[in-house]
Amino acid sequence: PTNKNKDELKKSLIFDANLLQNQPNIPPQFIWPDHEKPIPNPPELRVPLIDLDGFLSGNPAASARASELVGEACRKHGFFLVVNHGVHAKLISDAHRYMDCFFEQSLHEKQKAQRKLGEHCGYASSFTGRFSTKLPWKETLSFEYSPQKDSSHIVEEYFQKTLGGDFAHLGKVYQEYCDAMSKLSLGIMELLGMSLGVNRDHFKQFFKENESIMRLNYYPPCQKPDQTLGTGPHCDPTSLTILHQDTVGGLQVFVDDEWQSITPNINAFVVNIGDTFMALSNGRYKSCLHRAVVNNKCTRKSLAFFLCPNKDKVVTPPPELVDSNYPRMYPDFRWKNLLEFTQKHYRADMNTLQTFS
Ligand code: SIN
Ligand code: FE2
Repeated sequence: PTNKNKDELKKSLIFDANLLQNQPNIPPQFIWPDHEKPIPNPPELRVPLIDLDGFLSGNPAASARASELVGEACRKHGFFLVVNHGVHAKLISDAHRYMDCFFEQSLHEKQKAQRKLGEHCGYASSFTGRFSTKLPWKETLSFEYSPQKDSSHIVEEYFQKTLGGDFAHLGKVYQEYCDAMSKLSLGIMELLGMSLGVNRDHFKQFFKENESIMRLNYYPPCQKPDQTLGTGPHCDPTSLTILHQDTVGGLQVFVDDEWQSITPNINAFVVNIGDTFMALSNGRYKSCLHRAVVNNKCTRKSLAFFLCPNKDKVVTPPPELVDSNYPRMYPDFRWKNLLEFTQKHYRADMNTLQTFS
């Protein structure tokens, strides 16, 4: 084709999510192979609901019970729910509400934060993905987080820099939300340490100065939800994911050879083990395949905090978790190298857009 034709072709393959919704069918790029299409009425995954109240107030019996439940879930599939987690309901609802301020803008405005190929932060929309098949039905905004050093507010600065002063209130809320997630994740690291029988402070050393990633997931309604996926099947390469899903539902985990759903609970965070913690636990705890489906009625939103060690930390299991029954499962690595690997993978295969990418 001539250059002019190429440009036209390109243009016609950028989908406008709003226009797409008025058509009876979805473009073929969004139609997933039959074996990956969602199945109606999946069974509900049994995940423990862990009350953190006793643990957070230092009650030894409650802490022991919570760590027992954490251990059980992590040996089975690596997913559990936490309630009474100490994060204010108002902060969570603001974090959901403010997503609309960003995602309801025009594509042109959102592209001010456009994620560049091979990077993991910024705005990404599969509706603008072009020459690939198996596109997920979603848009995301991702940004880096690290606990405050020199009283700098990395999230606030990101919003200010990429989107300008009109978005300062979003920066404030997501900064506060990430601070709360970082704090909560250190508590969960303590429970994970107890549950594995290692010093309860052991894993915290990897994450005190975490260099984490926050992702806002926005899934518009889809007229053919049985043909596509919001997020394709993947395991999180990060250490721990703390997810808050709204009341719509759509998260599924592959357990016992079938996809099972995690019912939304507005009071709970869904916590799951990622590949890096699987390595830290010498494979005792599982990082499990999961995905998200969409629906034809309403937009679904989720907030994902991906806890990552600081980039130069060497990921290695404690000696207590290595013996003749449990020989080393993975070599030592630095998180930054695994991160680079996932980014290369992303460049090689646009389909991994829906994974960590
Ligand atoms: C979700 O939106 O529920 C999960 C998204 C993900 O795992 O990346
Ligand atoms: Fe995930």
